[in-house]
Amino acid sequence: MRMYDLIVKKQRGGAMSDEEIKFVVNGFTKGEIPAEQMSAWLMAVWFRGMNSKETSSLTDAMLHSGETADLSDIPGVKVDKHSTGGVGDKTTLIAAPIVASRGGVVAKMSGRGLGHTGGTIDKLESIPGFRTEIEETKFRECVRKYGISVIGQSTELAPADKKIYALRDVTGSVDCIPLIASSIMSKKLAAGTDAILLDVTVGSGAFMKTKEEAVELAKTMVDIGERAGKRTVALITNMNAPLGKAVGNAIEVKEAVEVLKGKGPEDLRKTCIVLAANMLYLCGKGELSECRKMAEESLQDGSAYKKLMDMTKAQGGDVSVLENTGLLPKASVIEELKAEKDAYLSALNAEMVGIASMKLGAGREKLGDTLDMAAGIYLHKKPGDFVKKGETYMTLYTNDAARLISAKETLDTAVSWSDKKPVLLPEVLARVEKDKVEIFA
Ligand code: URA
Repeated sequence: MRMYDLIVKKQRGGAMSDEEIKFVVNGFTKGEIPAEQMSAWLMAVWFRGMNSKETSSLTDAMLHSGETADLSDIPGVKVDKHSTGGVGDKTTLIAAPIVASRGGVVAKMSGRGLGHTGGTIDKLESIPGFRTEIEETKFRECVRKYGISVIGQSTELAPADKKIYALRDVTGSVDCIPLIASSIMSKKLAAGTDAILLDVTVGSGAFMKTKEEAVELAKTMVDIGERAGKRTVALITNMNAPLGKAVGNAIEVKEAVEVLKGKGPEDLRKTCIVLAANMLYLCGKGELSECRKMAEESLQDGSAYKKLMDMTKAQGGDVSVLENTGLLPKASVIEELKAEKDAYLSALNAEMVGIASMKLGAGREKLGDTLDMAAGIYLHKKPGDFVKKGETYMTLYTNDAARLISAKETLDTAVSWSDKKPVLLPEVLARVEKDKVEIFA
């Protein structure tokens, strides 16, 4: 088999066999196929797409490129949750403790942020002492004892995805349904849980720009998960504006704690309840409506908050910063943006807010960049809010004043004003289960 022939085959719209896909994935992972040929093949896939059999083969080849975790010795239904990427997305910090507080088991490997999207691992590391790289025995002990542990993605799981994703990221081939579906599902299947909840974001801050594309991606991933014998559900969630009001690391932990204490922004609270309810449903805890009630109660009675405290303590974190979030890392430079006239905030481009937050130091432009845990943006106003002339609508935080100019330029392009109240979409737009698609908006 020659890589050249396979590039040309895909370029002309041919369907690849199982053997051909294995040849490509294994060859590239082992370093036998050079990046220029792999990039050409990925671009051919971007233009020509893949049928469902090819997408399954690609997922399988990536899944078997490394080790797979075996969690079968941990009692209970283990559930994972994965978001296709967002801005201000601190839902794992809220939904996972809710699920654990009601008897679900969350053994989760999460990622770091890259580009405009944030990562759960970075957020957790803004809690002083919190260890996201713990020994496997400690991870299992924490899951057994508290029903929850969140650690960094092991490099041994689906190593092909890591290499392929890095190449896609610099060659414009990320936003492609079969490539996203195989990338996510190979990692999720390798992580060894029994059930998977997928949060497929749609809108200005997401890879999927339309609901139709998002539903197609969701259906592809649910199909892969169910074929592999894992109960899989996908929710299509709105990422036209950042989720909640905080974007950054420590600032997002603070907001997550607010929600866990029964307060916090309504859009974030609602999204987390739906995510947690679906995770509990996948764990077999009851009908969706019953699971929703359980999730709401867990926020009201403080049991979800206690689970975050338990996990933090078990993973070496300083729980005093959760009891008093004023102790979390603080920025030395604070700048407020004020409205120039009376108007409705009509749109807040999530991708641009994410880029601005990265420019302030909260995210990485490239792998290996060091983060400023205190950097970020607080959105006092969200789309649909009326803002008076002179009123603060955003506060910027950083430890490096030189970063402000470029961040503010980006934010200028993120905000739209109007004299009419905009019509907004709800938090959850659709739900996809095996053989079932529900559209809500
Ligand atoms: N997240 C992933 O893990 N992979 C993709 O391809 C896109 C989002």
